[in-house]
Amino acid sequence: MKISVIGAGYVGLITALVLADMDHTVVCVDKDELKINKLNHRIPPIYEEGLEELLDKCLNSKTITFSTDIATAIKTCDVLYIAVGTPALEDGHVDMSQSNVIVDSLAKHLDHYAVIINKSTVPIGTQKHITQTLLEKGVSKELFDVVSNPEFLREGKAIHDFKYADRIVLGCESDKAKAILKQIYDPFVSPKIYTTPETSELIKYAANAFLATKISFINDIANLCSKTHADIAVIAYALGLDHRISPEFFKAGIGYGGSCFPKDTRALVKIAEHYEIQLKIVQSAIEINESQKLKPVKLLLNHWEEMEGKIVTILGVTFKPETDDVRDAPSIAIINKLIELGAQVRVYDPIGNKNAQKICPKAQYFEELYHSIDGAHCLILCTEWEEFHDLDFRFILKHMRIPMIIDGRNFLTDRDPEDDGILYFTVGGSI
Ligand code: UDX
Repeated sequence: MKISVIGAGYVGLITALVLADMDHTVVCVDKDELKINKLNHRIPPIYEEGLEELLDKCLNSKTITFSTDIATAIKTCDVLYIAVGTPALEDGHVDMSQSNVIVDSLAKHLDHYAVIINKSTVPIGTQKHITQTLLEKGVSKELFDVVSNPEFLREGKAIHDFKYADRIVLGCESDKAKAILKQIYDPFVSPKIYTTPETSELIKYAANAFLATKISFINDIANLCSKTHADIAVIAYALGLDHRISPEFFKAGIGYGGSCFPKDTRALVKIAEHYEIQLKIVQSAIEINESQKLKPVKLLLNHWEEMEGKIVTILGVTFKPETDDVRDAPSIAIINKLIELGAQVRVYDPIGNKNAQKICPKAQYFEELYHSIDGAHCLILCTEWEEFHDLDFRFILKHMRIPMIIDGRNFLTDRDPEDDGILYFTVGGSI
């Protein structure tokens, strides 16, 4: 099949490459010339496990091309994926401007039947809205069907998650489009759910909101643990053994970040408001997450009268390990607050420094872990990168001004740093 994927971000790029690897002829389009140039030169624009190899493979087999020419892509393909960004506006509503631009191009260039598959996370009713817009702009209804097909991949495991999704959701009302979707998706082993576009669009938001709520729930319980000497790790494990709950995705910490949970929970609350529905549970999950991020700073303020002159090292700046993404990462909120309070902030992250530097230019960035620790008053572990698990406690005791670790991911608990004489704080323990 001739497939075009419009948007070469996380979702678009992975969709394009996996489909190209399945021997479809794929053109991946993006307006960002620099990104397209990089991709044509085999340079992945993001860090993602297995991406470089897959890019090489698909370019060698010539099943993929990268281009900025959207008109030709629309005119020559049978299937057109929309995978552009739908970021949050200042007030939490979804910014649909990138998607609208693509719909304009579709209206201008579509001259044969194509299935338009929307992969971006979009408000409920978007499939209907795109259909209506194309008809109003004079595109004949015989020339297209619009389908909702949300993406659930996780950064860091994106290729695996696309290939072996827990489920593939397809919101489709046309038999003709469904036959084409079956050709694309029947080879995948994942269960397929064919449903209405509205249901499909809401499944994506509901899934992210539910997972975000699960994390905020356990963080709320962690806060109670810190006052009662109960053990949050044992509680999460014991609760999780109930099959209806599951221990997966149930770790207390300094909150969730990334490009999806923060944006999608806020968007869902706004979407519901439009229908005069208050999503109180999701709203609470958002609020818990916001206050959770700043727990380490509150702890420091209780400890130190003055933040001025203190050197604090942030270990890990990405929102989770195995990615270079720092969007909405708890570390960013911590860095900004500490700088505002007058502390000197150092940052070490194995691959996230460059992205963090763009949004937090006032922090000091280190290439070498132990240089960032030498002479600091406190370490705040924000991301559970594997190399932090092997932290050299002797170095900390010898070279830090105060041997103090605030463990925002409860990552070192099994090493009992306190036994070595380190001041050690955990979420649900003393934070
Ligand atoms: C998420 C969803 O998992 C994915 O299905 C959706 O398509 C996009 O959003 P991603 O943003 O890549 O994926 O990250 P994920 O691995 O889900 O982690 C999100 C955040 O939750 C991270 O900041 C992580 O540290 C935090 N988290 C996760 C916890 O605090 N505790 C947990 O137990 C699990």
